[in-house]
Amino acid sequence: MRILMTGGTGLIGGILSKALHQRGCQLTVLSRHPDTVISKCGPGTGIFTSLDQWNPEQVFDVVINLAGEPIADKHWSVRQKQEIRDSRVTLTQQLVRKIATVNRKPTVLLSGSAIGYYGSRGNELLDETSAIGRGFSADLCGDWESAALQAEGHGVRVCLLRTGLVLSENGGLLSRMRLPFGFGVRLGDGKQWMSWIHIDDYIRILLFLMFHPNARGPFNMTSPNPVTNGDFAKSLKEAQRGLTVLSIPSVLLKLLLSERATLLLEGQRVLPKKIESFGYSFLYPGLPSALTELRTRQSNRLPGESKD
Ligand SMILES: NC(=O)c1ccc[n+]([C@@H]2O[C@H](COP(=O)([O-])OP(=O)(O)OC[C@H]3O[C@@H](n4cnc5c(N)ncnc54)[C@H](OP(=O)(O)O)[C@@H]3O)[C@@H](O)[C@H]2O)c1
Repeated sequence: MRILMTGGTGLIGGILSKALHQRGCQLTVLSRHPDTVISKCGPGTGIFTSLDQWNPEQVFDVVINLAGEPIADKHWSVRQKQEIRDSRVTLTQQLVRKIATVNRKPTVLLSGSAIGYYGSRGNELLDETSAIGRGFSADLCGDWESAALQAEGHGVRVCLLRTGLVLSENGGLLSRMRLPFGFGVRLGDGKQWMSWIHIDDYIRILLFLMFHPNARGPFNMTSPNPVTNGDFAKSLKEAQRGLTVLSIPSVLLKLLLSERATLLLEGQRVLPKKIESFGYSFLYPGLPSALTELRTRQSNRLPGESKD
């Protein structure tokens, strides 16, 4: 199977690349940093630095679209918001335009989105039929999804990956919540919901969607058991004995992060109803076992061993 992936060098993309190589797939990654592709995605990975390199005769059976400027890392200036949008919405539009020109279309486009689609919704239980929310993240995800769905007009099956907080031993949310020197964090009043997913379930669901001919439209990429931020911090402390949980007041977060603080202080209680209706069974449905497993993985890593 021939696969083209954007965002292949990222946290999810790097792990997914290795899973695809193990299954004998021929992978090509579109990257702004071609020199990093082999170390992050594995030997034998083909490299594009521009979509212009996809010539009309070249066939990709599957396109996976995960690229995106990190959303939480920098101040949301007008310019940064534009960068966040362009790296997702504009790139997806370019990808779909490219798909329109190639002789043989891919069977499926698996395209990124996030649970930010639902906006800030308090305790409301959300599934794939819930309406779009309001605010920067919701607008961004709505436009990102609309751009990807245009590929359906070219006969491509489109799955939208409404991604929750991905837990991996290699970085991402867990390394942010586990500060150096043995501290964890509880944010604001700790009542905001966190819809998380173990990286192994994420990869398995993605592969499931790739091969399931009837899977199309949005899929919540989250575990069936979201927790509040307070409970998340408690589970983290239990999984990692010796961790001290610090509470960071919301006023301080708002002062430090301005609009970006919404990412930490507001949440969504999301359920993966659609993938469960397809019969998918989660490896890590509950947070304690997910955290313990990732902790064990980290401890088993030999000193000096690469996290890639
Ligand atoms: N991880 C999570 O918890 C989570 C949660 C919700 C949604 N998501 C979404 O899922 C996707 C993958 O997540 P991830 O955590 O693997 O992301 P990541 O580690 O931040 O990697 C994303 C990749 O996108 C490319 N990229 C970054 N900035 C870009 C820019 N300005 N223009 C074009 N490409 C750019 C980079 O590839 P090159 O440097 O090789 O070009 C990078 O490796 C992202 O779109 C993210 O928004 C992730």
